[in-house]
Parts: sequence; C-alpha cells; structure tokens
Amino acid sequence: MSAQLLDGKAVAAQENERTRERVRALLERGVVPGLATVLVGDNPASHVYVANKRKTCKKLGIASVDADLPADASEETLLETVRRLNEDPRVHGLLVQMPLPKHIDEHRVLEAVDPQKDVDGFHPRNVGLLALGRPWMIPCTTMGILRLLERAEVGIAGKNAVIIGRSNIVGKPTALLLLSLHATVTLCHTRTRDLPGLVSRSELVVAAMGKAEAIRGDWIAPGAVVIDVGINRVGEKLVGDVEFASARERASLITPVPGGVGPMTIAMLMENTVTLAERVAGGLS
Ligand code: GUN
Repeated sequence: MSAQLLDGKAVAAQENERTRERVRALLERGVVPGLATVLVGDNPASHVYVANKRKTCKKLGIASVDADLPADASEETLLETVRRLNEDPRVHGLLVQMPLPKHIDEHRVLEAVDPQKDVDGFHPRNVGLLALGRPWMIPCTTMGILRLLERAEVGIAGKNAVIIGRSNIVGKPTALLLLSLHATVTLCHTRTRDLPGLVSRSELVVAAMGKAEAIRGDWIAPGAVVIDVGINRVGEKLVGDVEFASARERASLITPVPGGVGPMTIAMLMENTVTLAERVAGGLS
C-alpha cells in the first residue's frame, strides 16, 4: 500500500480563496484587515518564513505592517515596537517571529502582545483558554494540521494520537486541541522511553521535533495518518521529521515536506488575521 498525499499546498490554496472572499466582504464595509509581523535579527529560516507571510498578505488584500529590528536590538526596543503596534488601528493581528535572539526574554515579549491582536495564540491568556477547552485563537500550525485532517475527513474522536515534540509553538497546543476533540493523546519528547513502541500503537502521528527523518518508516502502524511538521535542511534538500518513502508504504495518509503543513500554517495565519478584523468590525464572525 502507498499512502495518499495530504496536499497542503492545494488545500491552502482553497482556504486562501475563502479568506480572500472574507477580505472582500470586509473591504465593502470599509475595513482593511492588517497583519503586523515583527522580525528581529538575521535567522535565515525566520527571514524566509516572514517574507512568505508578508507576500501572502499582499496576495489576499491584507495590509502587511512590517517591523524589522537588528539582532542587537534591546528587549526594551522590541517591547516598545510591540506596544506601538498594539495601539495601531491598522493592525488587527500582530506576531513576533520566533525564535528571538538569546538576550531577549521571549515570555516578556509574548505577554506584551495585546491578547485581542494575538494572531499566533501565544499570549498566556490565550494559551490558558485553549487549555480550558475554550479556544479564542488557535496557533496557526495547530490550525493547519486540524484543517488538513478535516478536509481529508479524518475523524479524531477516540483515536490514539502521538505527538513528538513538546514545543510551545506546535507540540503543546496541538496536544491540547486534539485532546479537546476527544483523541487519546501521548505527547513525547527527548526523554521519552520506547518512542518506536508508542508510535507503532498510534493511529495519528504528528512529528514536530525538528530532527531530520528521526521517525522511521517501519515504526508507523499500517493505515496510520502521518502529519510531518518538520522542515530540515539536509545539504540542498528539505526533509521532514519522518522518513517519508518508507512511512508512505505503511500509512494511509501522509503530508509531504515541503508542501504539507508549511503552506497550511501561512493560510491559517491569514485566516486568523481576518477573523480578528471581523471581530473588531463586529457582527461577522
Ligand atoms: N516560528 C516558527 N513558527 C512560528 C509561528 O507559528 N509563529 C511565530 N511567531 N514564530 C514562529
């Protein structure tokens, strides 16, 4: 058996089309949705991600408000930038690209973002609401995973789901969301014992630990659904956290890298931005 591909690029294009319609409806009411992206320093991957976010905004008619700070910018300068964007009425969604340079306290920065503009869902208040099963803003990668599963009509309730990687950006929020949708969730990390055994007993596998091809294909249970969040550069090639070719032989559905979760994350960021603009405009969402 060879798994069907979960084509994130194609699904993201459809989702972007729906977002474009919502932008149009807002424009008719005189509201231009705006997304502020704050980029600090010169992490090459972050530059690529943020450039993609800004480009997609323009494609969909969302105003992109760009703030770029040098790698040696002080924490206070970054906090002032965030506060200024919190007050800017053109900005409905605001994100600070992670990771930040080591001299800056990430938690202080995330707490400074107005929770009402927190398009990433990383503010402690929004993390808390997600943990309580009352999500107000779901982080974009988690949303992207969920939307891919929905579009492929993969049921979640009752499934054994394993997530590998406990980051605040992907692993933890995805675990909380799948739990709220009634999956039985195992959240694995570097200290987990018997990862192969846990993966082999799972019907849904989400790999998000950022280690090239660390999840071996022969660990995957026959018929499992495999979501690969990893983007790792190996020489000239991009590979995921899952050994794709051998995993594909066993899975029923699998995301490619690139072209799987990545485009969905950006599509969901655009959607979250429009949702925030609609909430401000009132009456639509
Ligand atoms: N770095 C990697 N993924 C993300 C994300 O979804 N949002 C932000 N702000 N930074 C990231």
